[in-house]
Amino acid sequence: MFLQSCSACHTYNGEGGRVGPDLTGVRNQPSDALLLHILVPNYEVAPSYQTLSLVTQDGRSLSGWLSAESDSSLTLRTAAGTEETVLRSTLTSMNVSALSLMPDGLEQTMQPGDLTHLIAFLKSAR
Ligand code: HEC
Repeated sequence: MFLQSCSACHTYNGEGGRVGPDLTGVRNQPSDALLLHILVPNYEVAPSYQTLSLVTQDGRSLSGWLSAESDSSLTLRTAAGTEETVLRSTLTSMNVSALSLMPDGLEQTMQPGDLTHLIAFLKSAR
């Protein structure tokens, strides 16, 4: 279940994506907090994961969280796991939202009981 729905974005025990935080340490969080994060990703989004939406002069729009910045450029980590660097001088607009890159409704592809197993799995990391 984790490999199917979560690991494209989350690392767990050293394997997986880097769109969201490494979940190896979440076993310390109570189960109900984990459940809330999974069912309502936008409930609480850490400032560093807030979504920036950029539009450039040549009409490109992209969104993701800020993974690096310099005086001349911004680098976004996108939901696809890629990094995109844009020169500040080419930006025509920039918006910050409190929304998560983590999609709503992940539980809709699960069978009854899967969430319970998934949370037990997340709490079992060593
Ligand atoms: C498209 C990428 C994506 C997918 C797929 C995804 N997540 Fe996330 N997840 C994120 C991002 C980005 C954050 C950080 C922002 C936030 O808190 O919503 C996050 C945050 C979380 C958090 C809070 C972590 C913390 O440190 O408090 C948990 C728990 C979590 N995800 C669990 C899951 C589980 C379980 C799945 C699979 C059912 C999953 N995620 C699927 C991107 C994703």
